[in-house]
Parts: sequence; structure tokens; C-alpha cells
Amino acid sequence: MSIRILGIESSCDETAAAIVADGRDILSSVVASQMDIHRKYGGVVPELASREHLRQIVPVVREALAQAGLSFTEIDAIGVTQGPGLVGSLLVGVTYGKVLALELGKPLVPVNHLEGHVHAVFLESHIAGITPELPAVCLIVSGGHTLLYQVQPRSENGNLSSRGFLYRRLGGTRDDAAGEAYDKVARLLALGYPGGPVIDQLAARAASSGTPPNNKDGLSFGPVKIKGNPYDFSFSGIKTAVLYYLRAHPEFEAEIEARRLALQQGRRKASDLLPLCSPETLSLISNFQSAVVHDLVTRTLAAAAETGARTILVSGGVAANSALRDAFASKSAPMGLNVFFPSKALSTDNAAMIAAAAYPHLLAGEVASSDLNAEPNLRIA
Ligand code: KG4
Ligand code: ZN
Repeated sequence: MSIRILGIESSCDETAAAIVADGRDILSSVVASQMDIHRKYGGVVPELASREHLRQIVPVVREALAQAGLSFTEIDAIGVTQGPGLVGSLLVGVTYGKVLALELGKPLVPVNHLEGHVHAVFLESHIAGITPELPAVCLIVSGGHTLLYQVQPRSENGNLSSRGFLYRRLGGTRDDAAGEAYDKVARLLALGYPGGPVIDQLAARAASSGTPPNNKDGLSFGPVKIKGNPYDFSFSGIKTAVLYYLRAHPEFEAEIEARRLALQQGRRKASDLLPLCSPETLSLISNFQSAVVHDLVTRTLAAAAETGARTILVSGGVAANSALRDAFASKSAPMGLNVFFPSKALSTDNAAMIAAAAYPHLLAGEVASSDLNAEPNLRIA
């Protein structure tokens, strides 16, 4: 008889619920994105996010149950994101999870959102019928986080879904997260929000149309230099370089204004914006992306080599980036490393990863008491 966990995620701007059996089989996964609400502000507005979670949580959970063909009583436990994240948003999920668990008389498992991102990779590899070898190095790269961990099994018994993992923090960003840099650069260039997907697509179009990279006039970005820990990251310098470059080149203003107008009219797809981007803008975007990807890949591979990892796991919203996927695939193979990514749907925030992460903790009896609270700064190591 399988153990079915209802996962609930509300740490940022996605209200999500999912049902996962035995930490590995996704029976349903529902994500209500708030993108349209936050878009006009160019980023997540915490007050609006928590209000929207309140509106969405009940219908989203009901939908997850309906898609799995289950009733509340057929759920064995509830896993809820405790942190890290926006406190008002987390509180909606935590409070709802507590009330539901009490009402149903089922255990409630507090889940670290970051641990969820690690489990997203294992969920995906399970779907593909592959088991990643451990120890691994895991890069969690999203709008809120850029972190490198060493990942090892927590116990020797059972399959990877039930064993759980031990984490050692190797490094993290000292300023902006990589996804944040994408979003800020997209804002400077009037490419819409979130910036990652559109920059990804525009850079790919530029590459396929043969737009040559332009290395003149400060457009090229050198390697990010960091003193101390070689596995730390810093992306605010790259963003600031774009800002100064645009200030020094007023000739970009007209096309930025044209794109702003297009966005206001709802034309925000890469195919809408591409005709409004000069070759110089496309090379700026490509060079920005190359710099970010190069930095993420180089530091992760160096960490893998130093720690004797067999595998690299990449998760979080930016893991959806096609240039990042290509660079990891081509550079890790010669080093004898296997790289695993979740699908794009499991890369960004979702509740299947929360239900999967809850499973080993449930088996280990790590359940919440009635005084469970949201922890906006929760860490895993
Ligand atoms: O994991 P996620 O959904 O939420 C956070 O926990 O932050 O990640 C969202 C972030 C945003 O910054 C978005 O711009 C970025 O992931 N992102 C991408 C891509 N898709 C989403 N960045 C680069 N390339 C993409 N294809
Ligand atoms: Zn996330």
C-alpha cells in the first residue's frame, strides 16, 4: 500500500498543491501562478502575494485531489513548505496545512523549500527510470537563491526517495541570485517579467540567426572575481555593468521605449519583442547570459571535482535555461560526471517536490507539532 502525501507550496508567488505516492510517483500537480499580478511591478509584491495565496489555496488543493481522483480522507500525510520565503506567503500554506492536518487527524510534515528543489531532480530522474549516483553536487538556482550543496544519502537503507539526504553547504550568492540578475537586466532593457525565459529565447534566436557577439565598448563581461570561497557567487556586478553601459549609450533609449509600449499592450512574447531588438541589444543579452552561465557552470564543476562528486544536480527556475543545460551537458561529460535537471515544470516552484521531500521525513517520524511556524530564513545546511 503506497503512502500518499499532499504537498502544499506557498513560499513565493506560486500557490501549488500536489499528491505524490511514496515520494516518487506524481499523482497530480497543480500550480497557480501569480505572474500576471506581479508583472506590472517588475517583481513579486509580498502583500499582493499573500492575499492571492489566500484566494487560491482552497481551489488549488481541491483541484490537486480531483486530478488524482482522491478524497481528503485518502491522503496519508500533508507536507507543507515551512521556509525559506516570504513570511506572509509561507503563513498561508503553514496555517492551512495545520488546520487541514488537525481536521483530518493526519501528520503534518514541515518541508524546507530548498530541499524540495533537490527532490525535484530525483522525481524527474525516477520518471526517466534513472537513479543518480551519490555523492552529488547540487546547484539550486532561482529568482531567490543561488546555492551549491554537497548531497549525500542520509541512510544506507531503502531507495533514494525514502532515504532522505544530508547536505553540506559549499557556497552561495553574496548579493543577487542568478534569476534576480535575469529579472533586473530584463527590466533595464524593457523585456518584461520574469526576465529569464524571454532572455533565454532571445539569446537562442540571436545565436541561430548568427548575430555575432559584440565585445566592444564594455559589452563583454569578464569572469566574476570573488575573494575567499571559490564556490560563492556574485551577480550584482554584471547587472550594474549593464546599467552603466545603457547610461553611456543613449542610442538604446528609443528601442527600450518601443518595447515598453509593446509590453503595455500585452505583446510580451520573445517573438513580439525580437523585431524590437537591435543587433546590439541581442549581443548584450547573449553576452550577459554567457557570463552568467559560464560562472554557474565553472564553479559547480570545480566544486564537483574537489568533492569527488559522481553527479551534478541542477534545480530552481533558472535550471530551465537552455544555454545552462547545454553548457552543463557538454562540459560535464568529459569529466565523467552525469548531470540531472528536472523538467521545466518541476524546475520552477511546485508542490510535487514538497510532497516528495516530505516523504523521508515522514518515514523518520519528523512531523510538526501544533506550534509549527513559518521560517522565512530556514536553511538546509
Ligand atoms: O524557482 P522559481 O520559480 O522561483 C523562485 O524560487 O525564485 O524561479 C523563478 C526565477 C525567475 O527569476 C526567472 O526569471 C528565472 O527563474 N527563470 C529563468 C528561466 N525560466 C525561469 N532564468 C533563465 N532562463 C530561463 N529559461
Ligand atoms: Zn524555489
